[in-house]
Amino acid sequence: MAVEVEIDIDVLKSEIKKTYASVSEDPGRDFIFPTGRAWAEDLGYPPELANVPETAVESFAGVANPWQLGRLAPGERVLDLGSGAGTDSLVAAQMVGEQGAVTGIDMTLQMLTKARTAAAEMNASNVEFVESEAERLPFPDESFDVVISNGVIDLVPDKDAVFAELFRVLVPGGRIQIADVTIQNPVSAEGRRNIDLWTG
Ligand SMILES: C[S@@+](CC[C@H](N)C(=O)[O-])C[C@H]1O[C@@H](n2cnc3c(N)ncnc32)[C@H](O)[C@@H]1O
Repeated sequence: MAVEVEIDIDVLKSEIKKTYASVSEDPGRDFIFPTGRAWAEDLGYPPELANVPETAVESFAGVANPWQLGRLAPGERVLDLGSGAGTDSLVAAQMVGEQGAVTGIDMTLQMLTKARTAAAEMNASNVEFVESEAERLPFPDESFDVVISNGVIDLVPDKDAVFAELFRVLVPGGRIQIADVTIQNPVSAEGRRNIDLWTG
């Protein structure tokens, strides 16, 4: 369902990019949300986390554990929507192996740079990171077997556009494993105008 947003989307995206550039460049800071390896371990991340370089995991900013919904099979093609510094993509790259492929997309350049550096540190040749917005994916129809995502769709006002894109790029019968924030009650108009509530 489309969310009524009385907010300038360009301003919102710019503020989101600033927030996550800072998670990328200054990971030791005290953010209003938890970050880092200890947080991923608390969430019960799979053993593959141990092999993911600190470059990625120090800027992990997921909200929950999408791996509770299941593991990936060798050879699968995976899209990580809003891959941040790359933690979930690099966990996925280990699960799908050399016959599989993982593509992470994100709109924050600093996050993409960290993710690419971490992939190189791990010698992961089956993963790539692409600059893109979740609402407009630069991939052909039916390109992926699985979509994973952690803490991203809650940041996007036009959720209909995101889900339309996910269903377009997934093969028929493909899977979606999303960890995200949901609400139980409608957010007030004042709350919807508060950029800090969106970015956090
Ligand atoms: C809370 S962080 C989570 C990052 C990563 N999934 C993780 O678990 O560490 C949210 C990420 O979503 C990205 N993002 C937010 N809105 C986006 C959009 N519309 N398109 C692409 N990326 C977006 C941000 O740049 C940020 O890296």
